[in-house]
Amino acid sequence: MKISNVEIVTVSERGARVNWRADRPADFVASCSSPVDNKKLSARVEVVNGRHYLAAFDGLVAGAAYKFQISAGGGTVYKGAFDTLKKPGGRFRFRFATINDIHVGEEIYGLIILPGLKWLPLTPGLKLDIDGVPFWQYTNEAVVRELNELELDFIIVKGDLVTDHTERNIRRSKEIMDSLEHPYYIIRGNHDRAGGMREDYFRNTFGVRDGWQSFEHKGCGFLLLDCIHPKSGYTTFPVAELEWFEKEMKRMAHMPVFVYLHNPPLRSIERSFVNRVGRFLGIIDAHPTVAGVFYAHTHANKRILRRGGGKTVPFVETAATMDYPGGYNIYDVYSGGYIQTCVRPHDKRCSRWFELCEKAYYGLAAARLFGKISDRNFTWSGPLT
Ligand SMILES: [Fe+2]
Ligand SMILES: [Fe+2]
Repeated sequence: MKISNVEIVTVSERGARVNWRADRPADFVASCSSPVDNKKLSARVEVVNGRHYLAAFDGLVAGAAYKFQISAGGGTVYKGAFDTLKKPGGRFRFRFATINDIHVGEEIYGLIILPGLKWLPLTPGLKLDIDGVPFWQYTNEAVVRELNELELDFIIVKGDLVTDHTERNIRRSKEIMDSLEHPYYIIRGNHDRAGGMREDYFRNTFGVRDGWQSFEHKGCGFLLLDCIHPKSGYTTFPVAELEWFEKEMKRMAHMPVFVYLHNPPLRSIERSFVNRVGRFLGIIDAHPTVAGVFYAHTHANKRILRRGGGKTVPFVETAATMDYPGGYNIYDVYSGGYIQTCVRPHDKRCSRWFELCEKAYYGLAAARLFGKISDRNFTWSGPLT
């Protein structure tokens, strides 16, 4: 009996989710314990495809170090450890989720193409349609199914709804989004840009007039920006948007704010020559309480703590729903901070596809995209009242 690819995808305040692959089916048992209470707790173990396993631990103590083991046939086959997240101070206020990089209509995954050289990709591509259903469809349907089972106040969709901006793809992506049973907000990604198209189907279908929007929810401000150059897809902030952003941030100066966009603003490549990133960061620095700047685009989990304006702000990038490592992010907001947890759907077709995706980018995908456990799951402490 051999197991491989043990991944602690999720740790939360009260639980953890661990995935692994086995060379053959077995009656796996997973348990964990912490010196905090010395109780041995067993996980719920589920399997799909006879080899993709999930151990879901629940009822754990917040902010504690746990050791876990996976056993089969009376013998231990793996030992590992994780720390549960600290609970933020104060009372629970609300929960929301984000998803990104839906990529409806993606035909081949994992291609790196230089501008103007579409016929000569730098990497071989992958695809896995199952029973006629393309990978972009079953991965997103699995995410929507799980999100619909959660109690959420809303969902923010951080762009790249499609791979090619066509009316058909935009309409199909709208159908998937409309199957969400929670209210959702949409941001444009570089693949959703309309440069060179007869019509801006994205704007017209999703009804995002200017491309930027804000709303308040239970005392927190949410600002959603469009930082996509309409022709190149590179990062740029239009002057009018920054003027609006600055005004909105001043108007919301008395409340904590969450800021969303598609392209990573700190990434120095794929920036337009005139990008105004400095001005965007200046506005972030001027606000007293920025809970985080959240984005997408590289399909990887990453987190940077950026110091500016006398405060530290998490800049957080989350992986795509459509490819490895997959999943979505949940935010539990308390009056004294929030928790981000990353969840991967445990689904038959997704598990097969994610396994294949590890071969992408000459086998570098897994290491490049999964991120550190603290990139995917973390507690931010600060006043959110
Ligand atoms: Fe993308
Ligand atoms: Fe993108």
